[in-house]
Amino acid sequence: MTQQNNHGHHGSPEHTQPYLEFRNVSKSFGEKRVLDDVSFHAFPGETLCILGRSGVGKSVSLHHIMGFLKPDSGRVIVAFEDITDYSEDELERIRKKVTMVFQNGALFDSLTVGENVAFPLRERRDLDEAQTYQIVDGLLEMVGVKAMRDQLPSDLSTGMKRSVAIARALAAQPECVLYDEPTTMVDPLMASLLGDLIQKLKDQLKLTSVVVTHDMRLAKKLADRIVFLHEGRAIFVGTVAEMEKAQDEVVRQFLELDTLVIPGRDISGYSTLYT
Ligand SMILES: Nc1ncnc2c1ncn2[C@@H]1O[C@H](COP(=O)(O)OP(=O)(O)O)[C@@H](O)[C@H]1O
Ligand SMILES: [Mg+2]
Repeated sequence: MTQQNNHGHHGSPEHTQPYLEFRNVSKSFGEKRVLDDVSFHAFPGETLCILGRSGVGKSVSLHHIMGFLKPDSGRVIVAFEDITDYSEDELERIRKKVTMVFQNGALFDSLTVGENVAFPLRERRDLDEAQTYQIVDGLLEMVGVKAMRDQLPSDLSTGMKRSVAIARALAAQPECVLYDEPTTMVDPLMASLLGDLIQKLKDQLKLTSVVVTHDMRLAKKLADRIVFLHEGRAIFVGTVAEMEKAQDEVVRQFLELDTLVIPGRDISGYSTLYT
């Protein structure tokens, strides 16, 4: 496949090309091979879920997409560009298009919710104070925490902090958002709401999304494609429907585990209360 450069314009000829792709990526830390010949891709506007148990290299995969880590071998394509050998300056340009929502939210504790979300906007010189706060309010409303604008992060629940972190990521107007374990350590209702939010952002903003999770319920809700990591390898790559038919024992165990998490309880109906 030929590489194209799409510097400075979105949206054009690349529908047949993945927005992001791992081609035979391997990565070791010392003796430990964390990623072993892993390949997957996502087309623009799709949601890719990276599934697997703790410690299989899900966060390491995201760090390759951000260019924080380089593969030992293989290629990493992000925003239609092969970033594998990119310099820090070139990666900075890519990171304007692709942002990551960290697991802990990584909010500034001493700034209000509103100021946290305003932070990426302040780097742009073209907005005055009133315009900045109009955008901040819009983003907070979009993620459902507008009433918290003048609070400090310490006043918020884990789930609300994550919503604010998502709003801050969106303030940079990315094309692609990476979510690291967005539903870990929140209650099932909040997990469902965060899943709805990620879906809504995908639909409304046409975002390409990568969702790292071990939450099968979330993956079923969101994923256009799934990559399942196990012992360094991508043991399954495909759609949710294909995964449900997969014969692989580890994949099957994972699917069955999900049904044991909240036996007999379907909370999805609650989400209509909050939209
Ligand atoms: N910067 C690093 N240096 C050394 N080992 C690392 C580093 N980052 C991750 N690892 C190791 O790689 C493995 C996968 O980590 P990670 O991707 O964080 O797992 P998870 O799938 O739970 O997100 C773990 O064994 C972890 O200890
Ligand atoms: Mg992780």
